[in-house]
Amino acid sequence: MTRQDELASSREGLLRYGEDTPTRDSFDNYSSSSELDLHELEPLEDTTSPRPRGGWSPKKKKKSKKGKEKEGPQPIKPKRRGGWCRTRNCVIVGTILTGGLLTLLPMAFWLVPGKGSGITSPPVYPSPKGGTLSQWEQSYEKAAAMVGKMSLIEKVNITTGTGWAQDLCVGNTAPAYNVGFPPLCLQDGPLGIRFADHATAWPAGITVGATWNKDLMYKRGRGLGLEHRLKGVNVWLGPSMGPLGRMPGGGRNWEGFGPDPVLQGIAAALTIKGVQDEGVIATAKHYIANEQEHFRQAWEWILPNAISSNIDDRTMHEIYLWPFADSVRAGVGSVMCSYNMVNNSYACGNSKLMNGILKDELGFQGFVQSDWLAQRSGVASSLAGLDMTMPGDGLVWQDGNSLWGSKLTEGVLNGSVPMDRVNDMATRVVAAWYQFGQDDQAKWPALPKGGPNFSSFSKNKVDKIHPYSDDDTTAVVNHFKDVQGEGDRFHGRLAQQIAAEGTVLVKNVDNILPLDPKGGLVPRNLRRDGKYRVGVFGEDAGSNPEGNNICPDRSCNVGTLASGWGSGAVDFPFLVPPVEALESTFDLTAVEITKSLTNDLSTNWPDVHGQQDLCLVLINSDAGEGYLSWNGVTDRTDLHPQKDGDTLVKRVQDNCAQTIVVVHAVGPVILERWIELPNIKAVLLANLPGEESGNALADVLFGRVDASGRLPYTVGKSLKDYGPGGQVMTKPNGPSPQQNFDEGLFIDYRYFDKHNIKPRYEFGFGLSYTTFTISKLNITTLKPKSPLPSPRLDQSLMPPAYPTTIPDPSSAVFPAGLRRLKGRIYPYLNSAAIREDTSHYPDGWDNHSHLSPAGGGEGGNPSLYDEHALVAVSVTNTGIRPGKQVVQVYVSFHETTDVSTGKMIDFPVRVLRGFEKVELRAGDTKTVETRLTRKDLSYWSVGRQNWVMPDGEVTVSVGSSSRDLPLSGVY
Ligand code: BGC
Ligand code: BGC
Repeated sequence: MTRQDELASSREGLLRYGEDTPTRDSFDNYSSSSELDLHELEPLEDTTSPRPRGGWSPKKKKKSKKGKEKEGPQPIKPKRRGGWCRTRNCVIVGTILTGGLLTLLPMAFWLVPGKGSGITSPPVYPSPKGGTLSQWEQSYEKAAAMVGKMSLIEKVNITTGTGWAQDLCVGNTAPAYNVGFPPLCLQDGPLGIRFADHATAWPAGITVGATWNKDLMYKRGRGLGLEHRLKGVNVWLGPSMGPLGRMPGGGRNWEGFGPDPVLQGIAAALTIKGVQDEGVIATAKHYIANEQEHFRQAWEWILPNAISSNIDDRTMHEIYLWPFADSVRAGVGSVMCSYNMVNNSYACGNSKLMNGILKDELGFQGFVQSDWLAQRSGVASSLAGLDMTMPGDGLVWQDGNSLWGSKLTEGVLNGSVPMDRVNDMATRVVAAWYQFGQDDQAKWPALPKGGPNFSSFSKNKVDKIHPYSDDDTTAVVNHFKDVQGEGDRFHGRLAQQIAAEGTVLVKNVDNILPLDPKGGLVPRNLRRDGKYRVGVFGEDAGSNPEGNNICPDRSCNVGTLASGWGSGAVDFPFLVPPVEALESTFDLTAVEITKSLTNDLSTNWPDVHGQQDLCLVLINSDAGEGYLSWNGVTDRTDLHPQKDGDTLVKRVQDNCAQTIVVVHAVGPVILERWIELPNIKAVLLANLPGEESGNALADVLFGRVDASGRLPYTVGKSLKDYGPGGQVMTKPNGPSPQQNFDEGLFIDYRYFDKHNIKPRYEFGFGLSYTTFTISKLNITTLKPKSPLPSPRLDQSLMPPAYPTTIPDPSSAVFPAGLRRLKGRIYPYLNSAAIREDTSHYPDGWDNHSHLSPAGGGEGGNPSLYDEHALVAVSVTNTGIRPGKQVVQVYVSFHETTDVSTGKMIDFPVRVLRGFEKVELRAGDTKTVETRLTRKDLSYWSVGRQNWVMPDGEVTVSVGSSSRDLPLSGVY
């Protein structure tokens, strides 16, 4: 059976859960006949619906039920999968059966709770107030002055979104004009400005991780920040650092920087610094453990609840939280809580995560916003520490029914939400706005001059200002402002440099690379027609013939792959295909290029394969966010190249003695089917390069730059090699699927090392065109060992205090004459009659939790960041070309017993703790230093609830990959 047949038959047997059948074909049905069925399902906690998302096509008109044309933009629906049920009868029968099964199946699941469903998350209350740390002191002073003058309505306005597609950005808040606070524009995403024109499509996070270049990480952040500011975006919805990459197939791993917490954390922090240095508020997302797309949110995958990522406390701290801690330490202004549950409590309602870890332990001073419809409760989420709901819609998209908005107003008026809490929510938002200088009118002019100058929901110059509403007011919504920079400062140059440094050379037999533009070693007189013959093979070498942006949010894999898909993708302003750059780099007076830009071996194949002197074959593997899918993929459940790239490579090399393979991919790809074949001379893993793809590739292929990328993940020999924890859960094991992170700390290379599994290419590996030696390791103690960080300091600053009198409800009633737009979220009440407070405060509300000893500063107790060891080595370029080496520093703890429990503590064989990329001319030597902090040299003690530095020796190893560590010493 082909995969397609398998899929079809499993669907005909209707929804045998666990076939590889993400059941979201019913997505489209949602708004039609099956709506009722879905609503009749009682979920465990809350309900919501999948959303209509993606872009909007301004011209499409949709027929309403009465057959009338409905005006205005309509959502572009995600493509349906498969095509097995095309007849009308099939659809009707299918719908009935599906409806029935949908009703019954989840109910049946309730009887069989998944293993792990007993795990819970402890309550932590009340919500710590912002304004306690000196780095934010002035912003809080100004914010307090402003919030002190705000009405309750205004406080609700700035903490509740206006509703999906009510205004021009993917997220919009309403203003508090009386006190001078503007509406905010929140926009995706991690690699550029989503739904915008004339903006850079930067290399994706995973490519940035592969550069291991701190300077480039920061500069890309600056570029992103500048472009967002010039387009009028206040809050950038990036960087992504969760998913971290527990599973190599996780659909959104590519938005972040790779599965090592330290690499991820450094890249995230530098990106945040860059963006915020331009005055744009960055968002560390998705907090936390949203490691796979399957079941990430309720209803999107039919089930009434999202998956629960069940994580123990130590793993949380040492792995998944680490990059968020670095982000808070970098001063990030916003954090986005994720869709999934963590230990069976929704991340956006989880008081341990928001109140406890983020705001107390990490000292986060900005505001927590929900992922889009990740908020699952009203009062409870506010008490648990959520500060802003996005996009404002409640459990259902675009029905105007927010969980906050008027409900938050009412909750405050009847005492369910303390005034204190809503004041803190508003103050956090305003403080972040001041913190990055957005009150500066020169840079952030007020409306109508300022604000977003593009629309996420229309490509027309003039269109609706409230895209999804019954208000037909139009204005210029797209100013087509070019924010890409000019001349030497054209951002494409930087994007190209990042893409080139994010390209990892893993094989280079006989130094076949770099290439000579005039051709290879074949003497002129032996060349046919005097030309050196180069064959370029594979669809991935060329463009999508229909256009680079044809699929919604890039949700198809056609032509060269330069980005994954979803909210983290952008419109390409241009995309340089590899073949174009090859044609413009090879000297065509000496070289003849033959192209076969397809993976279809039947097309023209016999004509082009033979007698090439050199063959370049390009293949790829794509993935993306869960509201879209391509060819059955969201998460990758198989790491082989897509579109049968393996067969293509094998065929090319069968007929070509010098074959070079280039892989564009969202993460690790299994290379085993051909990597050892004799004609495969060189392999480049080029990740996701963004708009300058071809130019960057040519830079590396022809040696205009050194090959200096290093793997930000392990390339295993099979998906199985990553262990049970490395597998995406595709079969739900209950109504709220339970995913136990049983492997603990042992993900990616930590798993391979622990179980002695030989990867194909290890984490940190990559070849250069020159050679280096590393010598003279010197470890200097800067501070002696001591088990615990300094005691937490008393809070040095008092958070703003406001009167807590509850305002008169009559001040919150809809103003007479205000036109209510369809679907829009308002803060107002219909009448001043307030329902009595019948809510119960959550468990643990009154046992005020103690302050964490690991807290006290941004990113945690400041003494965690004291430098304890200085690690220095000498690096020499021993080759004949200039090049860049990445010096990597790993730490190995020795077995020890926990200070509080006396139990043995298990450690990974080694963990990355620092790195530096250094550029060297041939023959040159440089000293490279990294510093290890207390936190780097500690483990998280669950008993102590603190970072503990073991008193035994810690081995420090230095080298050029996680498995090439020639030098070691001790601290
Ligand atoms: C994604 C976020 C994104 C948001 C707004 C969500 O589906 O998970 O990453 O920022 O949508 O588009
Ligand atoms: C690319 C060109 C592209 C141009 C678009 C350049 O960086 O190299 O191929 O057409 O940008 O502005």
